[in-house]
Amino acid sequence: MTASAKKLLYVRVAETIGHLIDQGVWQPGERIPSVRQLSREHRVSLSTCLEAYYFLERRGTIEARPKSGYYVRPQFRNSRLPVPEKTISAEQSQEVDVIKPLTAILQAQGSQQLPFAVARPSFELLPTARLNQAVRQALRTNPAAGIGYEQTAGNDLLRRQIAQQATRWGGVLTASEILITNGCLEAVHLCLRAVTRPGDTVAVETPTYYGLLQVIENLGLKALEIATHPQTGVDLDELEHALEQQPVAVCLFVPSFNNPLGSCMPDDHKQRLVELLTRRRIPLIEDDIYGEMYFGPVRPKTCKAFDTEGWVLLCSSFSKQLAPGYRVGWVIPGRFATQVEGLKHSVNVMTATLPQLAISEFIAHGRYEHHLRQLRAAFAAQVERVSRAIQQHFPAGTRVTRPSGGFVLWIALPESCDTAELHAQALKQGIGFMPGSLFSAQTQYTNCLRITCGQVWNAQMEQAIETLGHLFTALEAEAC
Ligand SMILES: Cc1ncc(COP(=O)(O)O)c(C=O)c1O
Repeated sequence: MTASAKKLLYVRVAETIGHLIDQGVWQPGERIPSVRQLSREHRVSLSTCLEAYYFLERRGTIEARPKSGYYVRPQFRNSRLPVPEKTISAEQSQEVDVIKPLTAILQAQGSQQLPFAVARPSFELLPTARLNQAVRQALRTNPAAGIGYEQTAGNDLLRRQIAQQATRWGGVLTASEILITNGCLEAVHLCLRAVTRPGDTVAVETPTYYGLLQVIENLGLKALEIATHPQTGVDLDELEHALEQQPVAVCLFVPSFNNPLGSCMPDDHKQRLVELLTRRRIPLIEDDIYGEMYFGPVRPKTCKAFDTEGWVLLCSSFSKQLAPGYRVGWVIPGRFATQVEGLKHSVNVMTATLPQLAISEFIAHGRYEHHLRQLRAAFAAQVERVSRAIQQHFPAGTRVTRPSGGFVLWIALPESCDTAELHAQALKQGIGFMPGSLFSAQTQYTNCLRITCGQVWNAQMEQAIETLGHLFTALEAEAC
Protein backbone atom coordinates (compact mmCIF):
# COMPACT_ATOMS: atom_id res chain seq x y z
CA MET A 1 0.00 0.00 0.00
CA THR A 2 1.35 3.49 -0.83
CA ALA A 3 1.98 6.03 1.92
CA SER A 4 -0.84 8.24 0.60
CA ALA A 5 -3.43 5.44 0.58
CA LYS A 6 -2.39 4.57 4.12
CA LYS A 7 -2.92 8.17 5.25
CA LEU A 8 -6.45 8.17 3.89
CA LEU A 9 -7.12 4.85 5.55
CA TYR A 10 -6.19 6.11 9.02
CA VAL A 11 -8.52 9.11 8.61
CA ARG A 12 -11.32 6.73 7.59
CA VAL A 13 -10.70 4.47 10.60
CA ALA A 14 -10.61 7.53 12.88
CA GLU A 15 -13.88 8.81 11.41
CA THR A 16 -15.58 5.46 12.02
CA ILE A 17 -14.50 5.35 15.66
CA GLY A 18 -15.25 9.08 16.13
CA HIS A 19 -18.74 8.55 14.70
CA LEU A 20 -19.43 5.65 17.08
CA ILE A 21 -18.28 7.79 20.03
CA ASP A 22 -20.53 10.59 18.80
CA GLN A 23 -23.44 8.18 18.74
CA GLY A 24 -22.74 7.19 22.34
CA VAL A 25 -21.53 3.65 21.63
CA TRP A 26 -18.63 4.45 23.96
CA GLN A 27 -19.41 7.02 26.64
CA PRO A 28 -17.08 9.63 28.18
CA GLY A 29 -14.57 7.91 30.47
CA GLU A 30 -15.01 4.50 28.82
CA ARG A 31 -12.18 2.50 27.35
CA ILE A 32 -12.27 2.04 23.58
CA PRO A 33 -10.85 -1.05 21.78
CA SER A 34 -7.09 -1.53 22.01
CA VAL A 35 -4.96 -0.82 18.97
CA ARG A 36 -4.48 -4.57 18.51
CA GLN A 37 -8.19 -5.30 18.66
CA LEU A 38 -8.98 -2.45 16.26
CA SER A 39 -6.36 -3.74 13.85
CA ARG A 40 -7.91 -7.23 13.92
CA GLU A 41 -11.48 -5.99 13.55
CA HIS A 42 -10.82 -3.50 10.76
CA ARG A 43 -8.15 -5.62 9.06
CA VAL A 44 -5.70 -2.74 8.94
CA SER A 45 -2.14 -2.51 10.22
CA LEU A 46 -1.23 -1.61 13.80
CA SER A 47 0.46 1.57 12.62
CA THR A 48 -2.70 2.70 10.77
CA CYS A 49 -4.72 2.15 13.96
CA LEU A 50 -2.18 4.04 16.03
CA GLU A 51 -2.32 6.95 13.57
CA ALA A 52 -6.13 6.89 13.78
CA TYR A 53 -5.97 7.11 17.58
CA TYR A 54 -3.38 9.92 17.46
CA PHE A 55 -5.75 11.76 15.12
CA LEU A 56 -8.67 11.38 17.54
CA GLU A 57 -6.41 12.41 20.40
CA ARG A 58 -5.43 15.61 18.57
CA ARG A 59 -9.14 16.28 17.98
CA GLY A 60 -9.75 15.98 21.70
CA THR A 61 -12.14 13.02 21.37
CA ILE A 62 -10.02 10.44 23.20
CA GLU A 63 -7.03 10.39 25.54
CA ALA A 64 -4.25 7.88 26.18
CA ARG A 65 -3.77 6.62 29.74
CA PRO A 66 -0.32 5.17 30.43
CA LYS A 67 -0.24 1.35 30.56
CA SER A 68 -4.02 1.25 30.30
CA GLY A 69 -5.12 2.17 26.77
CA TYR A 70 -7.29 4.77 25.07
CA TYR A 71 -10.40 6.30 26.68
CA VAL A 72 -13.16 8.67 25.55
CA ARG A 73 -12.24 11.98 27.15
CA PRO A 74 -14.33 12.48 30.28
CA GLN A 75 -15.36 15.99 29.23
CA PHE A 76 -16.42 14.78 25.77
CA ARG A 77 -20.08 15.57 25.25
CA ASN A 78 -21.89 13.85 22.44
CA SER A 79 -25.00 16.00 22.66
CA ARG A 80 -23.78 18.34 19.97
CA LEU A 81 -25.15 21.83 19.55
CA PRO A 82 -27.82 22.04 16.86
CA VAL A 83 -26.97 23.35 13.41
CA PRO A 84 -28.36 26.78 12.38
CA GLU A 85 -31.57 26.66 10.38
CA LYS A 86 -31.83 27.20 6.64
CA THR A 87 -31.65 30.93 5.94
CA ILE A 88 -34.33 33.00 4.20
CA SER A 89 -34.31 34.48 0.68
CA ALA A 90 -34.55 38.24 0.24
CA GLU A 91 -37.65 39.40 -1.60
CA GLN A 92 -35.70 41.69 -3.87
CA SER A 93 -32.16 42.66 -4.76
CA GLN A 94 -30.36 45.21 -2.60
CA GLU A 95 -27.53 47.66 -2.88
CA VAL A 96 -24.57 46.55 -0.80
CA ASP A 97 -22.93 48.63 1.89
CA VAL A 98 -20.21 46.48 3.37
CA ILE A 99 -16.94 48.22 2.50
CA LYS A 100 -17.23 50.90 5.19
CA PRO A 101 -18.05 48.64 8.16
CA LEU A 102 -15.54 46.05 6.98
CA THR A 103 -12.75 48.63 6.70
CA ALA A 104 -13.54 49.87 10.21
CA ILE A 105 -13.26 46.33 11.56
CA LEU A 106 -10.05 45.58 9.69
CA GLN A 107 -8.54 48.85 10.91
CA ALA A 108 -9.55 48.08 14.49
CA GLN A 109 -7.92 44.66 14.20
CA GLY A 110 -4.77 46.19 12.72
CA SER A 111 -1.91 43.83 11.96
CA GLN A 112 -2.49 41.65 15.03
CA GLN A 113 -2.71 37.92 14.35
CA LEU A 114 -5.90 37.53 16.35
CA PRO A 115 -7.25 34.04 16.85
CA PHE A 116 -10.52 33.32 14.98
CA ALA A 117 -10.56 36.56 12.92
CA VAL A 118 -9.20 36.03 9.42
CA ALA A 119 -9.68 32.93 7.24
CA ARG A 120 -6.05 31.92 6.79
CA PRO A 121 -4.02 28.94 7.92
CA SER A 122 -1.44 29.65 10.62
CA PHE A 123 2.10 29.84 9.35
CA GLU A 124 3.26 26.64 11.03
CA LEU A 125 0.79 24.73 8.83
CA LEU A 126 2.27 26.13 5.63
CA PRO A 127 5.37 24.71 3.92
CA THR A 128 7.40 27.92 4.30
CA ALA A 129 10.88 26.36 4.10
CA ARG A 130 10.04 24.33 1.01
CA LEU A 131 8.41 27.33 -0.66
CA ASN A 132 11.52 29.42 0.04
CA GLN A 133 13.57 26.63 -1.46
CA ALA A 134 11.30 26.69 -4.52
CA VAL A 135 11.94 30.43 -4.95
CA ARG A 136 15.71 29.85 -4.77
CA GLN A 137 15.48 26.97 -7.22
CA ALA A 138 13.43 29.03 -9.68
CA LEU A 139 16.04 31.80 -9.56
CA ARG A 140 18.93 29.32 -9.87
CA THR A 141 17.38 27.83 -13.01
CA ASN A 142 16.86 31.27 -14.53
CA PRO A 143 18.43 34.20 -12.60
CA ALA A 144 16.24 36.73 -14.43
CA ALA A 145 13.13 34.64 -13.83
CA GLY A 146 11.18 37.18 -11.85
CA ILE A 147 12.05 40.27 -13.83
CA GLY A 148 10.38 39.93 -17.21
CA TYR A 149 6.76 40.36 -18.25
CA GLU A 150 4.82 37.13 -18.34
CA GLN A 151 2.02 36.65 -20.88
CA THR A 152 -1.33 37.91 -19.56
CA ALA A 153 -2.73 34.40 -19.16
CA GLY A 154 0.16 33.45 -16.87
CA ASN A 155 2.95 30.91 -16.68
CA ASP A 156 2.45 27.94 -19.04
CA LEU A 157 3.78 25.26 -16.72
CA LEU A 158 1.69 26.46 -13.77
CA ARG A 159 -1.44 26.48 -15.94
CA ARG A 160 -0.65 22.94 -17.06
CA GLN A 161 -0.25 21.86 -13.43
CA ILE A 162 -3.62 23.41 -12.57
CA ALA A 163 -5.16 21.54 -15.53
CA GLN A 164 -3.62 18.29 -14.24
CA GLN A 165 -5.09 18.85 -10.77
CA ALA A 166 -8.49 19.65 -12.25
CA THR A 167 -8.94 15.96 -13.08
CA ARG A 168 -9.48 15.51 -9.32
CA TRP A 169 -12.76 17.48 -9.43
CA GLY A 170 -13.93 16.06 -12.72
CA GLY A 171 -12.34 18.71 -14.96
CA VAL A 172 -11.04 17.91 -18.44
CA LEU A 173 -9.11 21.03 -19.37
CA THR A 174 -6.16 22.29 -21.31
CA ALA A 175 -3.77 24.93 -19.99
CA SER A 176 -5.11 27.41 -22.55
CA GLU A 177 -8.48 27.48 -20.75
CA ILE A 178 -6.87 28.83 -17.53
CA LEU A 179 -5.82 32.39 -16.71
CA ILE A 180 -3.67 33.23 -13.67
CA THR A 181 -4.91 36.06 -11.44
CA ASN A 182 -3.90 37.94 -8.28
CA GLY A 183 -5.71 35.60 -5.93
CA CYS A 184 -9.28 34.35 -6.09
CA LEU A 185 -10.82 37.71 -5.34
CA GLU A 186 -9.35 39.27 -8.48
CA ALA A 187 -10.65 36.29 -10.46
CA VAL A 188 -14.18 36.95 -9.12
CA HIS A 189 -13.82 40.67 -9.80
CA LEU A 190 -12.79 40.10 -13.44
CA CYS A 191 -15.61 37.60 -13.98
CA LEU A 192 -18.25 39.92 -12.53
CA ARG A 193 -17.02 42.74 -14.72
CA ALA A 194 -17.07 40.47 -17.77
CA VAL A 195 -20.72 39.49 -17.36
CA THR A 196 -22.46 42.50 -15.77
CA ARG A 197 -23.09 46.22 -16.08
CA PRO A 198 -23.50 48.57 -13.09
CA GLY A 199 -26.99 48.23 -11.60
CA ASP A 200 -27.31 44.52 -12.53
CA THR A 201 -28.35 41.91 -9.99
CA VAL A 202 -26.08 39.15 -8.72
CA ALA A 203 -27.69 36.17 -6.96
CA VAL A 204 -25.65 35.07 -3.92
CA GLU A 205 -26.02 32.61 -1.07
CA THR A 206 -27.10 34.05 2.25
CA PRO A 207 -25.03 34.52 4.35
CA THR A 208 -22.20 35.15 1.91
CA TYR A 209 -18.50 35.99 2.31
CA TYR A 210 -18.12 39.74 2.84
CA GLY A 211 -15.21 39.83 0.35
CA LEU A 212 -17.62 38.88 -2.43
CA LEU A 213 -20.15 41.47 -1.25
CA GLN A 214 -17.33 44.01 -1.33
CA VAL A 215 -16.68 43.32 -5.02
CA ILE A 216 -20.41 43.56 -5.78
CA GLU A 217 -20.53 46.95 -4.04
CA ASN A 218 -17.36 48.09 -5.75
CA LEU A 219 -18.82 47.40 -9.20
CA GLY A 220 -22.13 49.14 -8.45
CA LEU A 221 -24.10 45.87 -8.61
CA LYS A 222 -26.98 44.65 -6.45
CA ALA A 223 -27.13 41.44 -4.42
CA LEU A 224 -30.11 39.10 -4.39
CA GLU A 225 -29.75 36.76 -1.42
CA ILE A 226 -31.04 33.22 -1.88
CA ALA A 227 -31.94 30.89 1.02
CA THR A 228 -29.08 28.57 1.88
CA HIS A 229 -29.02 25.36 3.88
CA PRO A 230 -26.02 24.98 6.22
CA GLN A 231 -25.33 21.48 4.93
CA THR A 232 -26.48 21.32 1.30
CA GLY A 233 -26.00 24.92 0.20
CA VAL A 234 -28.21 27.16 -1.88
CA ASP A 235 -31.87 26.17 -2.14
CA LEU A 236 -32.44 25.45 -5.84
CA ASP A 237 -36.23 25.66 -5.73
CA GLU A 238 -36.00 29.12 -4.21
CA LEU A 239 -33.35 30.12 -6.74
CA GLU A 240 -35.57 28.96 -9.60
CA HIS A 241 -38.49 30.89 -8.16
CA ALA A 242 -36.35 34.05 -7.79
CA LEU A 243 -35.15 33.76 -11.41
CA GLU A 244 -38.79 33.69 -12.52
CA GLN A 245 -39.59 36.85 -10.56
CA GLN A 246 -36.78 39.19 -11.60
CA PRO A 247 -33.86 39.59 -13.99
CA VAL A 248 -30.61 38.17 -12.61
CA ALA A 249 -27.41 38.82 -14.56
CA VAL A 250 -25.24 36.19 -12.85
CA CYS A 251 -25.06 33.80 -9.89
CA LEU A 252 -22.03 33.98 -7.63
CA PHE A 253 -21.82 30.94 -5.35
CA VAL A 254 -19.29 29.10 -3.20
CA PRO A 255 -20.73 25.58 -3.70
CA SER A 256 -18.02 23.60 -1.85
CA PHE A 257 -17.43 24.53 1.82
CA ASN A 258 -18.96 27.95 1.55
CA ASN A 259 -17.62 30.77 3.71
CA PRO A 260 -19.19 31.24 6.27
CA LEU A 261 -21.70 28.31 6.37
CA GLY A 262 -19.31 25.53 5.34
CA SER A 263 -22.15 24.04 3.28
CA CYS A 264 -21.30 21.72 0.39
CA MET A 265 -23.81 21.16 -2.41
CA PRO A 266 -24.18 17.47 -3.26
CA ASP A 267 -23.11 16.56 -6.80
CA ASP A 268 -26.68 16.18 -8.05
CA HIS A 269 -27.51 19.70 -6.79
CA LYS A 270 -24.47 21.05 -8.60
CA GLN A 271 -25.55 19.35 -11.79
CA ARG A 272 -29.12 20.65 -11.46
CA LEU A 273 -27.83 24.17 -10.81
CA VAL A 274 -25.68 24.14 -13.96
CA GLU A 275 -28.54 22.76 -16.08
CA LEU A 276 -30.96 25.34 -14.67
CA LEU A 277 -28.64 28.26 -15.42
CA THR A 278 -27.51 26.94 -18.81
CA ARG A 279 -31.14 26.68 -19.91
CA ARG A 280 -31.62 30.32 -18.97
CA ARG A 281 -28.22 31.43 -20.34
CA ILE A 282 -27.23 32.87 -16.95
CA PRO A 283 -23.52 32.61 -16.08
CA LEU A 284 -22.42 31.03 -12.81
CA ILE A 285 -19.28 32.33 -11.11
CA GLU A 286 -18.15 29.41 -8.98
CA ASP A 287 -15.74 30.29 -6.16
CA ASP A 288 -13.99 26.99 -5.41
CA ILE A 289 -11.30 28.30 -3.07
CA TYR A 290 -12.09 25.71 -0.36
CA GLY A 291 -12.70 22.73 -2.69
CA GLU A 292 -9.38 21.05 -1.80
CA MET A 293 -10.02 21.35 1.95
CA TYR A 294 -12.35 18.36 2.32
CA PHE A 295 -12.35 16.15 5.42
CA GLY A 296 -13.93 13.06 3.89
CA PRO A 297 -12.29 10.53 1.60
CA VAL A 298 -13.06 12.28 -1.74
CA ARG A 299 -12.76 15.77 -3.13
CA PRO A 300 -16.17 17.19 -4.03
CA LYS A 301 -16.83 17.81 -7.71
CA THR A 302 -17.22 21.35 -8.95
CA CYS A 303 -20.16 22.81 -10.88
CA LYS A 304 -17.65 23.34 -13.67
CA ALA A 305 -17.41 19.55 -14.01
CA PHE A 306 -21.05 19.55 -15.25
CA ASP A 307 -20.62 22.54 -17.57
CA THR A 308 -20.95 21.49 -21.21
CA GLU A 309 -21.56 24.92 -22.73
CA GLY A 310 -19.10 27.20 -20.96
CA TRP A 311 -21.53 29.12 -18.71
CA VAL A 312 -19.53 28.39 -15.53
CA LEU A 313 -16.58 30.63 -14.67
CA LEU A 314 -14.53 28.83 -11.99
CA CYS A 315 -12.36 30.92 -9.65
CA SER A 316 -9.83 29.66 -7.12
CA SER A 317 -6.37 30.26 -5.67
CA PHE A 318 -3.48 28.89 -3.64
CA SER A 319 -4.26 31.29 -0.78
CA LYS A 320 -5.83 28.79 1.62
CA GLN A 321 -3.37 25.97 1.11
CA LEU A 322 0.04 27.46 0.27
CA ALA A 323 0.73 31.17 0.49
CA PRO A 324 -1.94 33.87 0.76
CA GLY A 325 0.77 36.51 0.36
CA TYR A 326 1.89 35.22 -3.04
CA ARG A 327 -1.48 36.32 -4.47
CA VAL A 328 -1.67 33.55 -7.05
CA GLY A 329 -5.12 32.45 -8.14
CA TRP A 330 -6.77 31.42 -11.38
CA VAL A 331 -9.93 31.55 -13.40
CA ILE A 332 -11.39 29.11 -15.93
CA PRO A 333 -13.72 31.55 -17.67
CA GLY A 334 -15.42 29.20 -20.16
CA ARG A 335 -17.18 31.12 -22.95
CA PHE A 336 -16.13 34.46 -21.42
CA ALA A 337 -12.39 33.85 -21.88
CA THR A 338 -11.75 36.74 -24.28
CA GLN A 339 -13.55 39.31 -22.12
CA VAL A 340 -11.79 38.13 -18.92
CA GLU A 341 -8.34 38.17 -20.52
CA GLY A 342 -8.94 41.66 -21.94
CA LEU A 343 -10.00 42.93 -18.52
CA LYS A 344 -7.01 41.31 -16.81
CA HIS A 345 -4.66 43.03 -19.26
CA SER A 346 -6.33 46.39 -18.81
CA VAL A 347 -6.23 46.17 -15.00
CA ASN A 348 -2.67 44.99 -14.28
CA VAL A 349 -1.27 43.31 -17.45
CA MET A 350 -0.39 40.07 -15.64
CA THR A 351 0.20 38.45 -12.27
CA ALA A 352 3.75 38.84 -10.87
CA THR A 353 6.10 36.25 -12.38
CA LEU A 354 8.18 35.08 -9.43
CA PRO A 355 5.35 33.78 -7.18
CA GLN A 356 3.96 31.86 -10.16
CA LEU A 357 7.34 30.23 -10.80
CA ALA A 358 7.82 29.42 -7.11
CA ILE A 359 4.43 27.73 -6.83
CA SER A 360 5.01 25.81 -10.04
CA GLU A 361 8.41 24.62 -8.75
CA PHE A 362 6.81 23.67 -5.41
CA ILE A 363 4.08 21.64 -7.11
CA ALA A 364 6.71 19.86 -9.23
CA HIS A 365 9.08 19.01 -6.35
CA GLY A 366 7.66 20.13 -2.99
CA ARG A 367 5.44 17.17 -2.09
CA TYR A 368 2.28 19.18 -2.66
CA GLU A 369 -0.11 16.24 -2.29
CA HIS A 370 1.52 15.24 0.97
CA HIS A 371 1.19 18.81 2.24
CA LEU A 372 -2.50 18.94 1.27
CA ARG A 373 -3.23 15.70 3.12
CA GLN A 374 -1.59 17.02 6.27
CA LEU A 375 -3.39 20.34 6.01
CA ARG A 376 -6.81 18.69 5.59
CA ALA A 377 -6.22 16.53 8.67
CA ALA A 378 -5.08 19.60 10.64
CA PHE A 379 -8.15 21.63 9.62
CA ALA A 380 -10.49 18.75 10.43
CA ALA A 381 -8.91 18.43 13.88
CA GLN A 382 -9.01 22.19 14.52
CA VAL A 383 -12.64 22.60 13.42
CA GLU A 384 -13.58 19.75 15.73
CA ARG A 385 -11.59 21.21 18.64
CA VAL A 386 -13.04 24.72 18.30
CA SER A 387 -16.59 23.28 17.98
CA ARG A 388 -16.15 21.35 21.19
CA ALA A 389 -14.92 24.41 23.06
CA ILE A 390 -17.90 26.41 21.77
CA GLN A 391 -20.20 23.66 22.95
CA GLN A 392 -18.65 23.83 26.39
CA HIS A 393 -18.51 27.58 26.87
CA PHE A 394 -21.20 29.33 24.78
CA PRO A 395 -24.68 30.13 26.15
CA ALA A 396 -27.59 27.71 25.89
CA GLY A 397 -29.49 28.21 22.63
CA THR A 398 -26.29 28.56 20.57
CA ARG A 399 -26.27 26.87 17.16
CA VAL A 400 -23.12 26.05 15.25
CA THR A 401 -22.42 24.66 11.79
CA ARG A 402 -20.84 21.26 11.26
CA PRO A 403 -18.78 21.64 8.08
CA SER A 404 -17.22 18.69 6.29
CA GLY A 405 -14.45 20.86 4.82
CA GLY A 406 -12.88 24.33 4.94
CA PHE A 407 -12.03 25.91 8.25
CA VAL A 408 -14.73 28.35 9.28
CA LEU A 409 -17.65 28.02 11.68
CA TRP A 410 -20.87 30.03 11.62
CA ILE A 411 -22.48 30.50 14.98
CA ALA A 412 -26.02 31.69 15.70
CA LEU A 413 -26.44 32.94 19.27
CA PRO A 414 -29.76 33.59 20.99
CA GLU A 415 -31.61 36.41 19.15
CA SER A 416 -30.97 38.99 21.88
CA CYS A 417 -27.15 38.92 21.41
CA ASP A 418 -25.68 41.62 19.20
CA THR A 419 -22.30 40.37 18.03
CA ALA A 420 -21.21 43.75 16.62
CA GLU A 421 -21.62 45.21 20.11
CA LEU A 422 -19.30 42.59 21.52
CA HIS A 423 -16.69 42.83 18.83
CA ALA A 424 -14.91 45.81 20.39
CA GLN A 425 -14.90 44.16 23.80
CA ALA A 426 -13.45 40.96 22.36
CA LEU A 427 -10.77 42.93 20.49
CA LYS A 428 -9.66 44.55 23.75
CA GLN A 429 -9.03 41.06 25.08
CA GLY A 430 -7.01 40.13 21.99
CA ILE A 431 -9.75 37.98 20.45
CA GLY A 432 -11.06 38.36 16.90
CA PHE A 433 -14.15 37.18 15.02
CA MET A 434 -16.30 38.58 12.24
CA PRO A 435 -19.74 39.89 13.22
CA GLY A 436 -22.57 38.25 11.28
CA SER A 437 -23.95 41.50 9.85
CA LEU A 438 -20.97 41.70 7.46
CA PHE A 439 -22.21 38.63 5.61
CA SER A 440 -25.39 40.14 4.20
CA ALA A 441 -26.57 43.14 2.19
CA GLN A 442 -29.61 43.34 4.45
CA THR A 443 -29.71 44.18 8.15
CA GLN A 444 -29.62 40.67 9.53
CA TYR A 445 -27.43 38.06 11.24
CA THR A 446 -26.77 40.55 14.05
CA ASN A 447 -26.85 37.61 16.51
CA CYS A 448 -24.38 35.59 14.41
CA LEU A 449 -20.63 35.47 14.04
CA ARG A 450 -17.99 33.70 12.01
CA ILE A 451 -15.08 32.04 13.74
CA THR A 452 -12.11 30.74 11.76
CA CYS A 453 -10.17 27.64 12.76
CA GLY A 454 -6.99 28.10 10.72
CA GLN A 455 -4.75 28.30 13.77
CA VAL A 456 -3.29 25.32 15.56
CA TRP A 457 -5.23 24.72 18.76
CA ASN A 458 -3.56 25.71 22.03
CA ALA A 459 -4.43 26.61 25.61
CA GLN A 460 -4.76 30.35 24.84
CA MET A 461 -7.38 29.58 22.23
CA GLU A 462 -9.37 27.50 24.69
CA GLN A 463 -9.15 30.46 27.05
CA ALA A 464 -10.25 32.83 24.27
CA ILE A 465 -13.36 30.74 23.49
CA GLU A 466 -14.16 30.64 27.19
CA THR A 467 -13.85 34.44 27.38
CA LEU A 468 -16.12 34.87 24.34
CA GLY A 469 -18.61 32.52 25.95
CA HIS A 470 -18.61 34.65 29.13
CA LEU A 471 -19.06 37.85 27.12
CA PHE A 472 -22.00 36.42 25.16
CA THR A 473 -23.63 34.93 28.24
CA ALA A 474 -23.36 38.26 30.08
CA LEU A 475 -24.78 40.15 27.09
CA GLU A 476 -27.68 37.76 26.81
CA ALA A 477 -28.42 38.07 30.53
CA GLU A 478 -28.38 41.88 30.21
CA ALA A 479 -30.78 41.78 27.28
CA CYS A 480 -33.31 39.60 29.16
C1 LIG B 1 -14.98 32.38 -0.42
C2 LIG B 1 -13.71 33.15 -0.59
N1 LIG B 1 -13.36 33.62 -1.79
C3 LIG B 1 -12.25 34.34 -1.98
C4 LIG B 1 -11.39 34.62 -0.94
C5 LIG B 1 -10.16 35.45 -1.19
O1 LIG B 1 -9.17 34.66 -1.81
P1 LIG B 1 -7.77 35.26 -2.27
O2 LIG B 1 -7.01 35.61 -1.03
O3 LIG B 1 -7.13 34.16 -3.04
O4 LIG B 1 -8.05 36.44 -3.12
C6 LIG B 1 -11.70 34.15 0.33
C7 LIG B 1 -10.84 34.46 1.49
O5 LIG B 1 -11.19 34.31 2.64
C8 LIG B 1 -12.88 33.39 0.52
O6 LIG B 1 -13.24 32.94 1.72
